[in-house]
Amino acid sequence: MDLRHRPRYHFMPLANWMNDPNGLIQWAGVYHLFYQHNPHGPAWGNMHWGHATSRDLVHWTHQPIALAPTPGGPDQDGVFSGCAVNHDGVPTLIYTGVRPEVQCLATSDDQMIYWRKSPRNPVIAGPPDGLDVTGFRDPYVWREGDGWRMALGSGIVGQGGIVLLYRSADLQSWEYVGPLCQGRLDETGHNWECPNFLPLGHRHLLLVSPQPLRQAHYFLGSYQGDRFTAQEHGLLDHGGLYYAPQAFVDEGGRRICLGWLLEGRTQEAYVAAGWAGVQSLPRELTLAADGSLRQRPVPELASLRREHIHWGAAPIQDLTRLDEMAGACLELDIEMEPGEAEKVGLTVRRSPDGAEGVEIAYDAQRQVLLVDSRTASLSPEAEGRLAEAPLALGGAPLSLRVFLDESVIEVFANDRVCITARVYPTREDSTGLALTASGGAARLLALDAWRMSGIWGSRPGA
Ligand code: FRU
Repeated sequence: MDLRHRPRYHFMPLANWMNDPNGLIQWAGVYHLFYQHNPHGPAWGNMHWGHATSRDLVHWTHQPIALAPTPGGPDQDGVFSGCAVNHDGVPTLIYTGVRPEVQCLATSDDQMIYWRKSPRNPVIAGPPDGLDVTGFRDPYVWREGDGWRMALGSGIVGQGGIVLLYRSADLQSWEYVGPLCQGRLDETGHNWECPNFLPLGHRHLLLVSPQPLRQAHYFLGSYQGDRFTAQEHGLLDHGGLYYAPQAFVDEGGRRICLGWLLEGRTQEAYVAAGWAGVQSLPRELTLAADGSLRQRPVPELASLRREHIHWGAAPIQDLTRLDEMAGACLELDIEMEPGEAEKVGLTVRRSPDGAEGVEIAYDAQRQVLLVDSRTASLSPEAEGRLAEAPLALGGAPLSLRVFLDESVIEVFANDRVCITARVYPTREDSTGLALTASGGAARLLALDAWRMSGIWGSRPGA
């Protein structure tokens, strides 16, 4: 296995392929993360549920594989995505078995290590009569009244993505209620994967991951009479590499969301490396006073902070190098004012000669946040891109939280806009950090930088 570029404080399996987070739940204080996993290789296939546990959403302990396909069973061709619920004290997983796509249950005791598949699987054997669907998977289940509801990802041929709503009294027999929400083919793709549906403040939040767009979309709106009416729509992340997120309510009532970070390099490159796929940092979702969505990395991540440097207010002109804090595993918390500058921001993972580097900047004229990874690597195997997101500051300073973790860069701007990038610099010394301004002077208000510790032992990934 090639350990270069392997993140040190983001969750990953020991080796091989990972995609969607599944079955997120906190049980008797312990967070459980299940995930789509191919234990036999670093490319997608042979889908199992991997499993890890944590007390703080930061440090994880690997657990044995939770679910594997049962030969001859309804999940013989794959254990696809799904969720976890507390069924009157019994940990219960609800997932899609393949093939064809059907919905299945598995239960466990409190340890959540050994899972028993229901003898009644599949509990939903196929799509509702009369619907010509593009997909039928990824159940998300919640308590409602004295029963259960399920949102299922799907699409109607020729029409676009749809979330199908089901109800059940016992999690075993399910009745189709109708469409919870439907998109348009020309706007949000032909098939919606991994729906999530939960109350957030006074509103409801729907997440979907539309094929073929490879973006995680959110809708905020109202839920009445088994129908969701969307009033606001956006992307959870504008980097194009964050997909299939899952959100859950923890024991403290927080809405916490993790997403799958895709590789930004060729399949040949990640297969050669022996590992692919990373979980994002856990983000807390809240509503701002104006009812819009806020995303913040969970405060528990502060436990990874080590050496710290603070810079106070100063003008930023051209390029101001911050050599003291060069590194590939950092957290940066920056407040700046664009002032006269057309563009203000920073360059990270910069080689001394500038041949490699990633620009994170605010284009004040266009009111756009951008992360440009096209020059992150001299390797032809790295797929850099320019990611942009609209961000109107309305007179407020630009406030950036940036997490660097080897090949992962997660950027949070003003708690509102997120851009995640994957970078694979070729040079050992592509670790430089600099502030940048162009077209005029900008002003740094404050910058705090921390070196971040890894979450595993001395052996990487162990
Ligand atoms: C989303 C997805 C899901 C499916 C799983 C299979 O990335 O395609 O729809 O359940 O991955 O691994």
